[in-house]
Amino acid sequence: MAESMAGLHRTHRCTETTRAAIGETVTVMGWVQKRRNLGSLIFIDLRDRSGLLQLIFSEEISGKEAFEKAGQLRNEFVIAVTGTVEKRSGAVNTNMETGSIEINAKDIRILSEALTPPFPIEENCNTKDELRLKYRYLDLRRPNIQRNLILRSQVTTLVRNFMTEEGFLEIETPMLCKSTPEGARDYLVPSRVHPGSFYALPQSPQIFKQLLMCSGYDRYFQIARCFRDEDLRADRQPEFTQIDMELSFVDIDDVIDVNERLLQRVFKEVCGVDVQLPIQRMPYAEAMARFGSDKPDLRFGLEIQDVSETVKNCEFVVFKSALEAGGVVRGINVEGQGSLGRKKIDAYVNFAKGIGAKGLAYMQITPDGTIKCPFAKFMQPEEIQALADAMGAKAGDLMFFAADKESAVCNILGALRLELAKNLGILEGNKEFRFVWITEFPLLEYSEEENRFVAMHHPFTMPMEEDLQYIDSDPGRVRAKAYDIVLNGTELGGGSVRIHQSDIQEKMFEVLGFTKESAYEQFGFLINAFKYGVPPHAGLAYGLDRMIMLMTGSDSIREVIAFPKVKDASDLMSEAPSAVDPKQLSELFLETIAPEEV
Ligand code: AMO
Ligand code: AMP
Repeated sequence: MAESMAGLHRTHRCTETTRAAIGETVTVMGWVQKRRNLGSLIFIDLRDRSGLLQLIFSEEISGKEAFEKAGQLRNEFVIAVTGTVEKRSGAVNTNMETGSIEINAKDIRILSEALTPPFPIEENCNTKDELRLKYRYLDLRRPNIQRNLILRSQVTTLVRNFMTEEGFLEIETPMLCKSTPEGARDYLVPSRVHPGSFYALPQSPQIFKQLLMCSGYDRYFQIARCFRDEDLRADRQPEFTQIDMELSFVDIDDVIDVNERLLQRVFKEVCGVDVQLPIQRMPYAEAMARFGSDKPDLRFGLEIQDVSETVKNCEFVVFKSALEAGGVVRGINVEGQGSLGRKKIDAYVNFAKGIGAKGLAYMQITPDGTIKCPFAKFMQPEEIQALADAMGAKAGDLMFFAADKESAVCNILGALRLELAKNLGILEGNKEFRFVWITEFPLLEYSEEENRFVAMHHPFTMPMEEDLQYIDSDPGRVRAKAYDIVLNGTELGGGSVRIHQSDIQEKMFEVLGFTKESAYEQFGFLINAFKYGVPPHAGLAYGLDRMIMLMTGSDSIREVIAFPKVKDASDLMSEAPSAVDPKQLSELFLETIAPEEV
């Protein structure tokens, strides 16, 4: 039977009840974590979001009625207990924040009974993800998830404070809007009033924040919900949160400066981590060449090395044909793995093939200096030696080589580098937070699918002045005033200086294959706004979920979002998305087509 809490006031959360309160009468409320019945004594571990507290009931201390009620308690019952704080009578529990005290319970009310939960509510449970997410409201009771969400709240509070101190205004932008330009598929919302027309949910506040700059708000920020209908991964959700900002009258260094101080403040106050400023900057081309990725994890080496020059005259057809086709030959020296067994090497070769490599060549130098290399027979001994030397390899090392188009080699070796680090346990126990700004991104990338150039960031990103001359003759060569902030191999955020000159914007639309009409149809209001006086502006957005994931050491952003979705974008708890009443559809002038009819 559920009792009311009339007349009771909670005085403390569980772990706020400290040794300093010994002798005081307190009232605590929460969930029963555990009951131990020792006959004349009943111990209850009470849990709330702050942690655990031990309560003791006996007929002597608590009276007959309260003692009997305590005997009925089961896990997850919600109770209110009034009692006195005492030094713990038994052994001190060093695993518990309140392990040196206990409450001698004088009175108890059972505020709510509870069914047995489908999985235990405790720190590390091995329950399947599906079950956890179906009962997310129970999963959210687990202390590790609670810590994550508490930390997330601290971060947003700190961000709000910092941004406000720096003169940013928090301004909300619409959720029901016109399609935005981040390049993912939109989530659409049908309009009842305009049959056949749709709103798009924002992929980001990009256009609105640029308009706010046009309107003179100068420095804007928002903790903004974004929606992207893309394939989900461990670091992607269909709806996610950005810390979004835009600044007027600035260039790259101004944006980087304020953001470095923001990162420094947040990481210091929330994780106790000292971020050394300035954060390293690395041009995109260098990141791709050395790490095969535009989000390099700089916590370890295993750098990629170019050996095209060294092998350019050799007769090994794999290398030769790749170079003749304008490609490259690059490798990674895995120091100390010269004795790695054939099976494990084959696993790396198959890994590379699995991500699109035509093959993966290797050379081992055993600790006694013998060279094991399947392609050695196609090369002269001095060429093999020159190759090992170029790689800086010595006895006991293992080298992998990929030969292909440059972009393919970067992808393959970039992924191989991460796979090697994982298998060799290079990052185990590493607590470092290694930031890097990636700069000088290409403005455009060629889409084989669409057979045209597409914007690498978005169509409003400013080209680097010195590269503008190539925009017609060699668009792929033009670099952008765009930057990403990368942390431990994850893209935490990205932004750019925006185009504010209409001639450059028109040129950009032209290169992207927009006609004047199609550009106006999609972005006319922005183009027009810029005709009425626009300040130079730039901005950036962080993925808040990713930031919290890295700060908490979680392996998925699901662990830092209260109600996340699974891989197929559904919510297992509420069972969204779901069919709707046909009446709702007819009000919207919509009919659905069963998939097999499509
Ligand atoms: P961008 O598209 O790079 O830039 O997004 C910024 C950051 O948002 C995070 N992010 C995601 N997080 C979780 N799930 C997703 N599906 C997801 N997609 C992106 C990433 C990313 O770095 N308007 C521009 C910013 C600007 O130019 O100011 C933008 O949205 O951490
Ligand atoms: P093949 O002649 O295809 O049997 O390849 C000979 C060796 O070169 C094998 O060990 C392949 O895995 C390797 N190899 C094939 N293609 C490539 C490539 N593009 N890059 C690096 N190694 C390759």
